[in-house]
Amino acid sequence: MAVIVEPGTVQLRPWRADDIERLGEAAVGISRDTLALRFGVPYPTIPDWYLARIAEGWARGTWNACVAESEGRIVGWAEYGLGNDRDSAELAALVCDRHQGGGLGTRLVKEVAAVAKAAAVPVLYAQIQVGNRAARGALHAALPSLRYTGVRDGQWHYAVWLSGI
Ligand SMILES: CC(C)(COP(=O)(O)OP(=O)(O)OC[C@H]1O[C@@H](n2cnc3c(N)ncnc32)[C@H](O)[C@@H]1OP(=O)(O)O)[C@@H](O)C(=O)NCCC(=O)NCCS
Repeated sequence: MAVIVEPGTVQLRPWRADDIERLGEAAVGISRDTLALRFGVPYPTIPDWYLARIAEGWARGTWNACVAESEGRIVGWAEYGLGNDRDSAELAALVCDRHQGGGLGTRLVKEVAAVAKAAAVPVLYAQIQVGNRAARGALHAALPSLRYTGVRDGQWHYAVWLSGI
């Protein structure tokens, strides 16, 4: 049966292998400010080193994500990447500019944390630039058991044990 989706509706779904090719299209809606908040550098577009890291992590089974899609375009994603010991993972998220501030980041973080928990990841760590209130808000709203673990190198550090979500 065909699923009818209202125009403008944002849907969440698991990452698919071909999404990496669709990030170029998504990048059109991402400002340098947003890229700077995500990567620490105001890149003109999503950097190639990051795409390579996704490809490698996806192939090795150490990286996964949830995607937000609207009218066939990726408008946000939240991800985790396992460390070498596979005992913990780094959490990160990005929502395209036009879709920020409407609760999408919170939904994505919540969803990807559930995916990580289902994959038996014990703990997620997150680092965000000091003053990034939207990221702090999304983390706290999505993960009520989130713990703040301190500020280092201009970044707020957080941890969440997934047994508690
Ligand atoms: C961080 C990010 C993913 C959050 O997604 P979002 O859809 O904008 O966030 P939400 O709408 O879910 O908002 C989350 C909370 O932060 C608050 N918030 C949102 N934007 C805010 C802003 N600019 N200033 C202060 N608070 C803000 C919201 O009110 C909400 O709080 P509430 O639940 O108490 O109402 C998104 O803003 C983004 O992509 N930023 C650039 C990249 C980045 O910073 N990534 C995080 C580092 S990995």
